Amino acid sequence: MKDVLGYAGKKVVITGAASGMGAAAAELLVELGAEVHALDIADVKAPVHRVVKVDMKDKASIDAAVQALPAEIDVLFNCAGVPHPPFPPVDTVMINFVGLRHLTDALIPRIRSGGSIASIASTAGMAWKSNLERVGQFLDLGGFEAAEAWLVDSPDLKADAYGFSKQCIIVYTQRLAGELAKRGIRINCISPSPTESAFMTQLTTEIPEDAIKLFHPPIGRSAEPVEMARALVLLGTDLAGFISGVNVPVDYGYCAEVLMGRRDNLLGIT
Ligand SMILES: NC(=O)c1ccc[n+]([C@@H]2O[C@H](COP(=O)([O-])OP(=O)(O)OC[C@H]3O[C@@H](n4cnc5c(N)ncnc54)[C@H](O)[C@@H]3O)[C@@H](O)[C@H]2O)c1
Repeated sequence: MKDVLGYAGKKVVITGAASGMGAAAAELLVELGAEVHALDIADVKAPVHRVVKVDMKDKASIDAAVQALPAEIDVLFNCAGVPHPPFPPVDTVMINFVGLRHLTDALIPRIRSGGSIASIASTAGMAWKSNLERVGQFLDLGGFEAAEAWLVDSPDLKADAYGFSKQCIIVYTQRLAGELAKRGIRINCISPSPTESAFMTQLTTEIPEDAIKLFHPPIGRSAEPVEMARALVLLGTDLAGFISGVNVPVDYGYCAEVLMGRRDNLLGIT
C-alpha cells in the first residue's frame, strides 16, 4: 500500500519527546519510519535516532541544540511545555513560547520546501482573539532578552501566564503562515483539551480536578496523549499539504459547544 503519511526517511525534530504527547508522537514517528531527533530536558525513552538535551528557557542551551541538529529538516514538532501553576509565570512563558519561537526561528532556514511546523498550543489559549493587541505587542518585542524583561515587568500576567503562552503560539503560527508559504513551508498548531500526562499530574497539585473537568469535552473524559499525538503527526503529513496557518482545537467538540452557546464560555473564546 502507498505510504500516504510519507514519513519514511523524513528528518523530523521534536521537542518534549520524553513524556506525554511528545513521547507518543516520537514513538509514532519512529514507527512510521522517520529519522527522529528528540529534544528534551529529561531523558527520552522512545527509540529515536538521536536525543539532544535542551532547556527551552535557556537561549544558549537552545543554540547548542540547534548546532547538533541536521542541516536539512522536513518537519518540526514543538511539544515541550509546562503548566503554571506550579511552574513560575515567567518560566512558563519562556519555556512554552519564547524558547519555542527561538528554536523555530533558528530552524526555519533548514526546513525543506514541502516541509512543515506543528506546535502544541492549548484550549487555554483559545481566547487569543480578545487579547490580540497585547499578544501582538509582546511578539513584536522579538528576541529572548526583551521578551524576558517584558515578562518580569508584567506581574499581572501571573493570573494566566499559561493561557498567555499558548495565545502567543496561536498568534505566532498565524502570523508566520503567509511568509512561510512563499517558501513552500506550512505551519499549524493544535489546541488540546485536558489530557492525562505528567503535565496534568503537576497541574492538579495546585488546581482541583473538578475545576479541570469543567473543560472536559462532551464525551466526558480527558484525552490520552496518543490522541493528541495522532492529530499533531497528521498535520505534518502530505495529507495536510494545503493546511497552513490553522489552530486546530483537538477537543472532541469542546470549543464547538462553547461557540454554539451550549455551555459556559469560561475562557472567553470568541
Ligand atoms: N496535558 C494537558 O492537559 C495539556 C492540554 C493542552 C496543552 N498541553 C500542552 O501539551 C504539550 C505537551 O504536554 P504533555 O501534556 O504531554 O505534558 P508532559 O509533561 O508529559 O510533557 C511535557 C514535556 O516537555 C518537557 N519539558 C518541560 N520543560 C522543559 C524545558 N525547560 N526544556 C525542554 N523540555 C521541557 C518535559 O520534560 C516533557 O517531556 C505542552 O506544551 C502542554 O502545554 C497539555
